[in-house]
Amino acid sequence: MTNSDFLVMAHRGSMGHAPENTLAAFQLGIEQGCNAIELDIHLSKDGELVVIHDDTLNRTTNLTGKVNDLTVQELKQADAGSWFHEQFAGERIPLLEEVIDLVPPHILLNIEIKQSYGGQLESKLLELLKRKNRIHNVVLSSFNLKSLKQLKLAEPEVKIGIIYNVNVVQHREFANLMGVPVYSLHPNFQSIDPEDIQDAVSNGVKVFPYTINEEKDLKLAISHGVSGIITNFPDRLRSIVSGE
Ligand code: G3P
Ligand code: MG
Repeated sequence: MTNSDFLVMAHRGSMGHAPENTLAAFQLGIEQGCNAIELDIHLSKDGELVVIHDDTLNRTTNLTGKVNDLTVQELKQADAGSWFHEQFAGERIPLLEEVIDLVPPHILLNIEIKQSYGGQLESKLLELLKRKNRIHNVVLSSFNLKSLKQLKLAEPEVKIGIIYNVNVVQHREFANLMGVPVYSLHPNFQSIDPEDIQDAVSNGVKVFPYTINEEKDLKLAISHGVSGIITNFPDRLRSIVSGE
């Protein structure tokens, strides 16, 4: 398979090999040949966008507490690498801005909004993307469809992608219910049928299922015509896509 538009999307970075949502995981994903990176964001107490999956530090760092109760200075004390492996000791929770600085513009950033924080996160996000001139090579995704609609109405040039976990009756119609253009569908791969994938893709809506890791499942999704795959193992997917 040689479709150069196909997205090998590293889930929370190369999280099968490195601590999720750290600069080390993003750097490794790039070295392994990903052309897109998925990451998750929250808001710190002092209003900075930080890259972490959970709303607490408990699972992925050596500290505890809620992300939104801590300032960036406090969050930066946490070791976000040792829990995964001692070789990653000292990895920090990155600011979204630090990831934008690390990841070159030809690699698409899929920024997943975990919580809206009363609408504050959306405004901070658009402000940052504009300041970094990064509006065009990102897709903003979320299970929170209202948040995505708000973002699209505020900045029509930004791409939005809806994440969901149910096999809706008709996936493209589901996207149409948003009332604003949707760039991509991000279904759980278990919850979408091949004909819905083909219907969306042939009508110009990308399909990026999550999270597919096993070689046979990666090959199956490719055979269904998806536009890219969100995977913990971008190296594995890159090998398949490049026919190695
Ligand atoms: O973007 C798809 C996927 O990341 C959504 O689930 O829990 O891994 O953020 P989660
Ligand atoms: Mg995510």
